[in-house]
Amino acid sequence: MTESYREFYRRSLEDRDGFWREQAALIDWQRPFDRVLDYGRPPFARWYPGGTTNLCHNAVDRHLAARANQPAIAYISTETGVERTYSYAQLYDEVNVCAAMLQALGVGRGDRVLIYMPMVPEALFAMLATVRIGAIHSVVFGGFASHSLAARIDDARPTVMITADAGMRMGKIIAYRPLVEEALRLAQHPPAKVVTLDRGLDRSGGRSAERDLDYAVLHREHSGARVPVAWIESNEPSYILYTSGTTGTPKGVQHDTGGYAVALAASMKHIYCGGPGETYFATSDIGWVVGHSYIVYGPLIAGMTTVVYEGVPIRPDAGIWWRIVEQYKVAVMFSAPTAIRVLKKHDPAYLRKYDLSSLKNLFLAGEPLDEPTARWISDGLGRSVIDHYWQTETGWSILAAYPGVEVTPLKHGSPSFPAYGYDLRLLHETTGAEVGDNEKGVVALAPPLPPGCLTTIWGQDERFVKTYFGSFPGKLMYSTFDWGIRDTDGYYFILGRTDDVINVAGHRLGTREIEEAVCGHADIAEAAVVGIQDPVKGQVPVAFAVAKDAARFSDPRERAALEHELLALVDQQIGAIGRPARVHFVTMLPKTRSGKVLRRSIQALAEGREPGDLTTLDDPSGIEQIRTAVAEATSR
Ligand code: PRX
Repeated sequence: MTESYREFYRRSLEDRDGFWREQAALIDWQRPFDRVLDYGRPPFARWYPGGTTNLCHNAVDRHLAARANQPAIAYISTETGVERTYSYAQLYDEVNVCAAMLQALGVGRGDRVLIYMPMVPEALFAMLATVRIGAIHSVVFGGFASHSLAARIDDARPTVMITADAGMRMGKIIAYRPLVEEALRLAQHPPAKVVTLDRGLDRSGGRSAERDLDYAVLHREHSGARVPVAWIESNEPSYILYTSGTTGTPKGVQHDTGGYAVALAASMKHIYCGGPGETYFATSDIGWVVGHSYIVYGPLIAGMTTVVYEGVPIRPDAGIWWRIVEQYKVAVMFSAPTAIRVLKKHDPAYLRKYDLSSLKNLFLAGEPLDEPTARWISDGLGRSVIDHYWQTETGWSILAAYPGVEVTPLKHGSPSFPAYGYDLRLLHETTGAEVGDNEKGVVALAPPLPPGCLTTIWGQDERFVKTYFGSFPGKLMYSTFDWGIRDTDGYYFILGRTDDVINVAGHRLGTREIEEAVCGHADIAEAAVVGIQDPVKGQVPVAFAVAKDAARFSDPRERAALEHELLALVDQQIGAIGRPARVHFVTMLPKTRSGKVLRRSIQALAEGREPGDLTTLDDPSGIEQIRTAVAEATSR
C-alpha cells in the first residue's frame, strides 16, 4: 500500500467518526443525524442514527435542479430490439407513477414489495418507487424458479409482487408467469396483489380477477401522480436480498438506508471515479447485489447515466458491449470474469472496432480473476482492469484499488488492498489468531462493519450474529467465509470459500440447496453436490446421488433417465443456474464416523486431485466409489 491511500485508510479506522461524517456530506439528509455511529449493541452497527434521508430522493429528486434533461437510464435490449433513454425528469415521473400504484395497492412504510423481473426499466422504477414510500424491496433474480421464489415469498411476506410476462435470453422467450403461478401456489404467505408488466412476449400462466393487475392499466390510472418522499430514519431497511450460505435456507441480507447511500456515494468517488453526467455500465442483473449497488443506486446517486442492458455479451456479436461503450460514452464499466472469458473465445478485433476513449477503467468482481483473462482484456482495451472483492452482505468493496484517492500499481490475481472503513484481518481457521504475510487465513472483519454493510438477516438477528460472527470462539469477528493471503507488499489474494458455497459464472449458489432439490426426487436416498473447476464459468456443480433402489439403477438406461429427471427437478425448483453438469450414481457417500459427508474430499476427487485427509473417514469404500464414478465418467 503506498503512502496516500495508506493514510486515507488509516484515518478511516483511527478517526472513524470524522471520516464517515465527511463521507455523509456526499448525500442529502432531511434531518441531520445525531451521531455518526451508535455501536451500543455489538455487533449491530447503527450508522447515522437520528438522521433521515431517502434513497430515491438521493438517486432521483435531488438531480432534477441540475440535470433534469440528462439521461438517467440508457436502456438497451438486444433481445427485443428496444433501445431508449429516460432523462432524470422522465425517471422522476415514472417512479412517482409506480409509487402511486404501490400505495393504491396498500403498500405502506416497512411493507415488502417482491420484484421478480427481467432487465427492463420498469424493474428500476419499481425498486426506486418502493424505497420512495419507505417500503422494502426484495428483488428475486429472474433465473430462479418457482421453489426458490416461493421460499423468498414466505420469508419476506410481501404485500405486493411485481413481475412481467416474460424475459428473453439468446432470442428465446422465458415465460415468467407459469413460474409465478406455481410459486404462489407453493407459498404459505402469497402477496394479496400481483402486478404484471405485459411485454407482449408470452401469454401463458393464468390470471386471477382478485389478485392480478396489469402494469399498463395501473400506469394509466396513476398517470401524472406525485408521491412525496417518505423520510426514513437512517437505520430503517431499504431492501432485502437473499443469498446462499451453508444451510439449504437462503438468508435475507438486510441493508439500511443512510449508511448504504453514503457507502455507495463514497465508492463512486474513491473507487469507480464516476461523476455527474458520465455513464456507468454494469453488466450484471438487478437480481444480484452488483445490480442493486451499481446498476441502480450507486450511479444514480452520483448523477450518472446508468446503462440497463438486457442481453448477452455475444449477441448480435461479441462487439455489442464495446458498441455500447462507444455510443453512450461509458466512463466506468463493471463486469465479471466469466463474461470476459466468454468474450475471449471470440475475435479480439472486436475490442479495436469501436472508439473506447471515454472508458477510464474496467472493474471486475464476483469470482476469482485468472491472470490470462486479466491480461487479455487489459491488453485488448489498453485500460487498467481493477479486480475488486466483495459480497452481497457488504454491498460494496471489501478489497479494491482506489484510483480516486491514489493510483496504485496492480498485481494480477490480486484485488489489491482493504477498503477504507474495513478493519480486515486474516485469521487462523480454528484458533482465530492473526496469520502472517504469505500465510493462508480466513478473511475476517473486526466489527463494527462500515456503512453499507448488512445490518442483520431479515427477521433473524440471532442467526445474523451466529452465522457471521460465530466462527472464532471468544472473538467477535465477521467471517467472509473466504480464504485469503497477503503478500509482503500488502496485496491480498482470495483463495476460495471456506464453506459449501460455489460460484457458477459469478453466481453464488449453495450446494445444500441443490442437494435438497435432488433429494426431493422419490427415487433418491441422499446426494452430495460439489463445485468443480470449469474453464469458462469458474465452477460448475456436480452431483453424487445414492438411489434408494440400487439394483434397479444398475441399468445404464434407467440411470440416464433418472439423471434426466434430476436435472429437470433442479431446473424447476432452483432454475437452470443450479443445474449440475452431471449426476454420478454411487451406492454410498464417503462420511466421517459422526456422519458428516466429506464434501472437500469428494470435490478433490471430482477435480482429479487426491482426496486429502481421510483420518475421520468411516468406510473407505465410500471414497473408492467416488473415485470409480469419476474415472468411469472421464473414460466414457
Ligand atoms: O467468494 C467470494 C466471491 O464471491 C463471493 C460473494 O458473492 P456475492 O455475494 O454474489 O457478491 C458478489 C459481489 C461482487 C465472495 O464471498 N468473490 C467476489 N469477488 C471476488 C470473489 N472471489 C475472488 N475474487 C473476487 N474479486
